[in-house]
Amino acid sequence: MSAVLPVLATRLSTAAAATFGPSYGELDPELRSATRPEFGHYQTNLALRLANALGRPPREIAARLVAELQVDDLCEPPRIAGPGFVNLTLRAETLAAAVNEPETFGPRGERVVVDYSQPNVAKQMHVGHLRSTVIGDALCNVLRYVGYEVIRQNHVGDWGTQYGMMIEQLEDEGLDPESLDLQGLQLLYERSRKHFDADGTFADRSRLRVVALQSGDPGTRAIWRRMVDVSLDDFEQVYALLGSALTRDDVVGESAYNDDLQPIVDELSAAGLLTESEGALCAFLPGFLGRDGQPLPVIVRKSDGGFGYSATDLAAVRHRVNTLHASRIVYVVDHRQSLHFDQIFTLARTASWLPPTTTAEHVSFGTVLGPNGKPFKTRAGGTVKLTALLNEAVARADSLLEGRDGVDRQTTARAVGIGAVKYADLSSDRGNDYVFDLDRMVAMTGNTGPYLQYAHARLTRLLTKAGASDGEVTDLKDPAEVRLALLLTGFAGTVAQVAETLQPHRLCTYLYEVAAALSTFYEQCPVLTSEGATKVSRIALCVSTRKVLQDGLGLLGIAAPDAM
Ligand code: ARG
Repeated sequence: MSAVLPVLATRLSTAAAATFGPSYGELDPELRSATRPEFGHYQTNLALRLANALGRPPREIAARLVAELQVDDLCEPPRIAGPGFVNLTLRAETLAAAVNEPETFGPRGERVVVDYSQPNVAKQMHVGHLRSTVIGDALCNVLRYVGYEVIRQNHVGDWGTQYGMMIEQLEDEGLDPESLDLQGLQLLYERSRKHFDADGTFADRSRLRVVALQSGDPGTRAIWRRMVDVSLDDFEQVYALLGSALTRDDVVGESAYNDDLQPIVDELSAAGLLTESEGALCAFLPGFLGRDGQPLPVIVRKSDGGFGYSATDLAAVRHRVNTLHASRIVYVVDHRQSLHFDQIFTLARTASWLPPTTTAEHVSFGTVLGPNGKPFKTRAGGTVKLTALLNEAVARADSLLEGRDGVDRQTTARAVGIGAVKYADLSSDRGNDYVFDLDRMVAMTGNTGPYLQYAHARLTRLLTKAGASDGEVTDLKDPAEVRLALLLTGFAGTVAQVAETLQPHRLCTYLYEVAAALSTFYEQCPVLTSEGATKVSRIALCVSTRKVLQDGLGLLGIAAPDAM
């Protein structure tokens, strides 16, 4: 069974074209879920828009449209309402069939590259990286679900002048690279920075070190490698705690593009796209102006001869198109880098590295705020350690489970605590900032992760009690069960919408609506105490609902425990 909504939309377009002329068939019917039960299941304002275009009374146009509309195989007779809305109500058997045979997606034969998480070597991951990881994981799941082949790329910040400084400092101090942990690396960075600023000869040595690093000097590379490995070990602990899908294999850091950087400069220069400005090689793109109205450069090679963040990103675009054959490239990075990506995409298009057949999208997101409404920091102003934060969420979840029996406390506390943090992040429109408030995140009521997990667990308990559950939805009568069934038919469409807009909060909102409709259904439609065909059908409806909640949470990267 294919989705009903697109079929009905096509029928509306066909009717519009047949009645008013082919061009009117091009109008999007904008068929939407009805806002109130008395409007049926779906409503459209197509007739109002047609009437406007044709200069005729809307109700007359609606009547002519409905006279031509052929939907009686799927719907009750269409109704015209108010100024000229057309309301459609599915026949009970159409709705039941749509629930019993949900829409699925086949392979699209297209690759999408998702660049996400991207922490920096020798630094703690911060809450911004947490957001990128959580949103990126969810988007990868959603994109795969709708049929993309997904390639994850963890564009780790592991290259640049600071490593020259750090390695030189380490050698000066006679430190054993094996003895360093992430904390140690961070402190080493701070000392090397001070040293660099205070001592000109150290600064010169550091610059030479960068050259040695970039040209592959074995001793220098070995120390650098150790720094990267220590950092990746630490990131992996966070990924494990989060249940992120990212692995070492997905790490393709900035360093991976080292050999491509000079060719990038050469190609841009051959294309006449580079200008020298204060010793640096820059691309000036039309339309990019700074606050002062001056042209804004993309610095491809810095005045000291080093390549910067932009050069690496240009090389990455080229690699993703030419080698990975991506038809879509998605960057999950905070909103402060919007201009950077705008410039990179524009320059990559101008240089023909990014062909018209490949889209590049910056999935930008807002800042995580502390209780004071300012960017989330420790009291001392440092970055909050992510593992501590996540462990705190798990501890809160654990106390929530106090006294529940039949619950595997440790696993469940983890699922609920981590799920709460992820859901809070995913459920707000990603463009907005949000306050990191653990109390609200772990609450069992409202639009939270634990609320949805609880809805799923309660349903699982009911189905266990019910025993056999291999029947089908057959008769949908009560408005509460009709409403729930209708919502369930919207799952695939919602996921497709998230794949298109890259806005996971739409899936959260949808799942929350399902859970709310489920609770009304419980109040109004007895399941275990009903009888005969009604009982079979209601159990089947519960099975379908459970699957939607489970799959939906799964797409968000959130576990759905069977008991809590
Ligand atoms: N490492 C960077 C940061 O922490 C983010 C990298 C984003 N990805 C990219 N392709 N530039 O800010």
